[in-house]
Amino acid sequence: MARLKVGVLISGRGSNLQALIDAAAEQAYPAEIALVISNNAAAEGLARAARARIAHVALAHPNPAAFAAAADAALRQSGAQFVALAGFMRILDDGFVAAWRDRLVNIHPSLLPAFPGLHAQRQALAAGVKVAGCTVHFVRPVLDTGPIIAQAAVPVYADDDEERLAQRILAAEHRLYPMALRLYAEGRLRIDGDRVAIAGTAAPRGTMFNPPLS
Ligand code: GRF
Repeated sequence: MARLKVGVLISGRGSNLQALIDAAAEQAYPAEIALVISNNAAAEGLARAARARIAHVALAHPNPAAFAAAADAALRQSGAQFVALAGFMRILDDGFVAAWRDRLVNIHPSLLPAFPGLHAQRQALAAGVKVAGCTVHFVRPVLDTGPIIAQAAVPVYADDDEERLAQRILAAEHRLYPMALRLYAEGRLRIDGDRVAIAGTAAPRGTMFNPPLS
């Protein structure tokens, strides 16, 4: 079966991009990365793409519309059928979001709809939540909204600072994003209004308590 061709948009470190690169290195994985686009020429993620011999380009971001037009053209030329945002730190142009609707996903370091926007981990600590996590969702015009595909939860520890919590969430992100992309590429997601139905997954077992019960 032909693999789903995916374009990935980044702005920086690219550790989630790396997780997708590593997943796609497996021939049996149902998606491959056709192109990496960064709005920042110095992004570490561009070097990750280069090392993996994946096409990559830095595009100027004078304004959202100009960036979106260039990104859209590059994606179509690459044959991308789907777009994954992975630490892309700019607001996407509404026209781009409309053009790629239901073929555009994002990963966010909170259990949405809690803590959208910047510094989600700092927001979680300030709110005093005992469980945090990350979300992969289809993108809609309003930032960090859209039908949720998958989430992972991690405990918040009493002595966490933002960095420690971010690292714990990030480790979950690196497992969640390849899984969510796999579900899409296998044709197992159906968007029904604000919800996503997933075919053929077992219900998870267990409850996380924080603090623990005993
Ligand atoms: C991740 O925490 C992601 O959830 C958020 O931005 C961060 C990007 O990290 N959207 P990286 O560039 O993938 O390392």
